[in-house]
Amino acid sequence: MTDYRIGPQTQRLTLRAMTIDDAPAFFALNSHPDVMRLTGEPPLQSEDEARKAIADYPDFDKVGYGRWGCVLKETQSVIGFCGLKYLDDLKEVDIGYRFLPEYWGQGLATEACVATMAFGFDVLNLERIIGLVLPENTASIRVLQKLGMRHDSEFRYDGMIVHRYTIASDDRPAI
Ligand SMILES: CC(C)(COP(=O)(O)OP(=O)(O)OC[C@H]1O[C@@H](n2cnc3c(N)ncnc32)[C@H](O)[C@@H]1OP(=O)(O)O)[C@@H](O)C(=O)NCCC(=O)NCCS
Repeated sequence: MTDYRIGPQTQRLTLRAMTIDDAPAFFALNSHPDVMRLTGEPPLQSEDEARKAIADYPDFDKVGYGRWGCVLKETQSVIGFCGLKYLDDLKEVDIGYRFLPEYWGQGLATEACVATMAFGFDVLNLERIIGLVLPENTASIRVLQKLGMRHDSEFRYDGMIVHRYTIASDDRPAI
């Protein structure tokens, strides 16, 4: 299994696995009420929790890929995460992303996702990528739509009704 802790580069971002040194940035992101509100996840309560979450993150060891930290090249700071996650229960690969609010509205999530999607199709040779989103998360839905993903179903997942967006490798847009 190839280890993809080093992810793609985009014009403004470097994508790479988080390390323990990223715990303060990871905590700032995952404890921010505006960031967490529509993710369906509880906010982290302490930097210790952030350290533990990074240390125990199993995906890279298990399948070789996972959610990467997004480092803004201009400042070298971690401003979000983006990446693919294998969902064992659904047998699907899910694209996920999250950025600090001061960086919203600049196309950064889309930029990170375009590179992540290309990685999924070109490097991992995936046939399909899905995105799970709460129906009220209109900004996230917009990102999925800009990637060319289409709504295909809705179902109960982790106790919430989620909407599933999908794209097949044959249907990727030329972005
Ligand atoms: C979702 C999120 C990652 C988007 O990040 P971003 O860098 O601002 O995204 P982009 O700039 O690439 O694109 C956002 C798009 O949504 C649009 N948008 C922003 N807020 C919106 C809203 N409230 N309603 C509808 N569209 C909205 C923007 O106009 C833009 O579309 P456009 O390019 O057509 O104008 C960011 O809002 C975030 O981190 N949210 C909290 C975490 C989260 O919910 N993650 C997703 C879980 S499924």
